[in-house]
Amino acid sequence: MASFTVNGKSVTLDVDDDTPLLWALRDELRLTGTKFGCGIAQCGACTVMLDGAPVRSCQTQVGTLDGAEITTIEGLDGPEAKAVQDAWTAIDVPQCGWCQSGQVMSATALLRDTPKPSDADIDNAMWGNVCRCATYTRIRAAIHDAADTLEG
Ligand code: FES
Ligand code: FES
Repeated sequence: MASFTVNGKSVTLDVDDDTPLLWALRDELRLTGTKFGCGIAQCGACTVMLDGAPVRSCQTQVGTLDGAEITTIEGLDGPEAKAVQDAWTAIDVPQCGWCQSGQVMSATALLRDTPKPSDADIDNAMWGNVCRCATYTRIRAAIHDAADTLEG
C-alpha cells in the first residue's frame, strides 16, 4: 500500500512496495503519457517529477513514495513547462514521439534551475534522455527558444 499525490490528486495504491512507479502510473492510474523504454534507468523515456525533481519512474519503487508529490506529463504546468511545450510545438521537435514526454520533463527541470542555459548546460542536463530518432538538434533549439520566451 502506498499513498502519494499524482498531478495534485491523492492516490492510494494496493500494490507491492517494489512495484515500479512507471507501472503504477501506466497500469493502475492509466496515465500513459509516461513511456517505457529500457526499464533500467538508461533512456529517460519514463522521466517524471518527484517533489519537483526529475526521476526515472522505472527505477522508483512505489514503497518509497509515501507523502511524495509526483508530476507526470499530463499534469506538468508552470511558466517553464508552458515555454517548453510551446517551443516543442513551434519547432516541431518530436519525430516518433516516444521519448518526448521524458525530454519535456528534463528540459522543464533544466529551465527551472538554469533560466538561460548554454549548449553545455543543455547537453549536461539532457544526456540521459535518449532519442532513437535523433531529434537532439531540435531539442537544443527548442530549449534555447523556451529560455528566450521566459526571459521576455
Ligand atoms: S524506461 Fe526508465 S530510463 Fe528507460
Ligand atoms: S522522437 Fe522518436 S525516440 Fe525520440
